[in-house]
Amino acid sequence: MNADMDFDYPPADPLAVCKSWLDEAETLGLINPLACSLATIDPEGRPSSRTVLLKALDEQGAVFYTNRLSRKGKALQTNPWASMLFYWDMLARQILIEGRVSEVSDEESDAYFATRPRGSQIGAWASRQSEPVADRAALNKAVAEIEQRFEGREVTRPPHWGGYRLSLDRIEFWQGLLDRLHDRIEYVATDHGTWDIQRLNP
Ligand SMILES: Cc1cc2nc3c(=O)[nH]c(=O)nc-3n(C[C@H](O)[C@H](O)[C@H](O)COP(=O)(O)O)c2cc1C
Repeated sequence: MNADMDFDYPPADPLAVCKSWLDEAETLGLINPLACSLATIDPEGRPSSRTVLLKALDEQGAVFYTNRLSRKGKALQTNPWASMLFYWDMLARQILIEGRVSEVSDEESDAYFATRPRGSQIGAWASRQSEPVADRAALNKAVAEIEQRFEGREVTRPPHWGGYRLSLDRIEFWQGLLDRLHDRIEYVATDHGTWDIQRLNP
């Protein structure tokens, strides 16, 4: 779907729209066009959010990678419901994906981890993500220790690091238009593998 096309006739397949919008965002020259806000719910029912990068998207869901012992990882452990919100100011567009996360397989996480720069691989071991760290020196020390441990060999994926796949239960597209009369089209997945599609008031 191109920028000037509206949703008078919403396409049947929201995944195709997602891919098209993401592709278009990638042409803008942004540093992180696939960054999104991931919202989770902690065991007390409180929401929190943070930015993550989308690494894969297909019928099975939207994939991001992280430390599973992080704050978000712990939240997802007890409450797998989450959302990913993308926003591109330059396109006046927003995509909201809501669903349930499942862990990406070890094989898939290994394959992605192997593509990361060595420095990021070392960092994944050295950083106890979301835990307090005394100071920068303590973090540097942890990095040095991991570098030593893997000296001269490939850095394997830490067992606590991997992907999550958010199922595509609900997808909402928002296209900014004149006079705040924006397009908002909601797709809700049915149990029969189809989509309920409706327009929402802006
Ligand atoms: C542009 C951008 C991209 C990021 N991508 C990721 C990511 O893909 N995975 C990740 O774990 N953290 C990523 N982060 C860091 C997270 O926003 C967050 O600080 C970290 O994951 C800890 O979150 P938590 O304490 O809520 O678990 C990114 C931050 C920014 C600003």
